[in-house]
Amino acid sequence: MPLLEVQGVSKSFSGIVALKDVELHLEEGEILGLVGPNGAGKSTLINIISGIYRPDRGRVTFMDRDITGMPPHRICSLGITRTFQNVETFPELTAIENVLIGALFGSGKASMHEAHERALEVLRFVGFPLDRLEERVKNLNVGELKKLQLARALATRPKLLLLDEVTTGLNPRESKDAVKMIRKIRDSGVTILMVEHIMRIIMGVSDRIVVLNYGEKIAEGTPGEVAGDERVVESYLGEAYSVEG
Ligand SMILES: Nc1ncnc2c1ncn2[C@@H]1O[C@H](COP(=O)(O)OP(=O)(O)OP(=O)(O)O)[C@@H](O)[C@H]1O
Ligand SMILES: [Mg+2]
Repeated sequence: MPLLEVQGVSKSFSGIVALKDVELHLEEGEILGLVGPNGAGKSTLINIISGIYRPDRGRVTFMDRDITGMPPHRICSLGITRTFQNVETFPELTAIENVLIGALFGSGKASMHEAHERALEVLRFVGFPLDRLEERVKNLNVGELKKLQLARALATRPKLLLLDEVTTGLNPRESKDAVKMIRKIRDSGVTILMVEHIMRIIMGVSDRIVVLNYGEKIAEGTPGEVAGDERVVESYLGEAYSVEG
């Protein structure tokens, strides 16, 4: 039984088809890369799985339970956490306070003391600079913000983590570190659905890849299989990418 199953999901926004009959599944412990050009529907799919949007048609099943249309906080408490393409935090709160919020919600509800311990643990895990814990979030740089967002997500103790473009805005060195971090998170027992529009990054880290184009799934397979797929190459208009991360 897959951990997550998306069946026949469609979504339109005032006539614009964002997703059309999308099928996708995730096995426990894998990193699934969801890739596609701008506007392909990647974020919309994350928004549907995490409960931000309700699909027009289709079903989302998590651990054998129908979660279609459930509110985001319930989905989070069942063990699905997501990050946002545009880092969303509480700008006036400090770094540690932002992660505390994650620790106090989510699937592993905690007391204030436990939440604090857990917040520190995940901040260390993602390599957030510990001398910046009391800094207000609005003063953090992009790299620090991305780590903070990951820490806040992990503090909810997810079974499934949905990552929407975690490497966007990072320099090549930071991107490499982020990819290492994603593997480390998976190795700690979290299943990952990772969205990227840069093919090269997703190729190096994913066990399996699903490609969306104009809201439709056009390919699915190992990085090697997908890299050789004619429709994928076409949808990227010959953009160069390689299997090596
Ligand atoms: N809330 C919304 N209202 C109206 N249109 C939307 C909304 N969300 C998404 N869309 C449209 O749905 C389509 C898919 O958008 P989506 O953000 O899912 O793409 P994406 O693959 O994440 O793209 P990107 O790589 O640019 O992040 C686009 O045409 C987009 O304009
Ligand atoms: Mg997007």
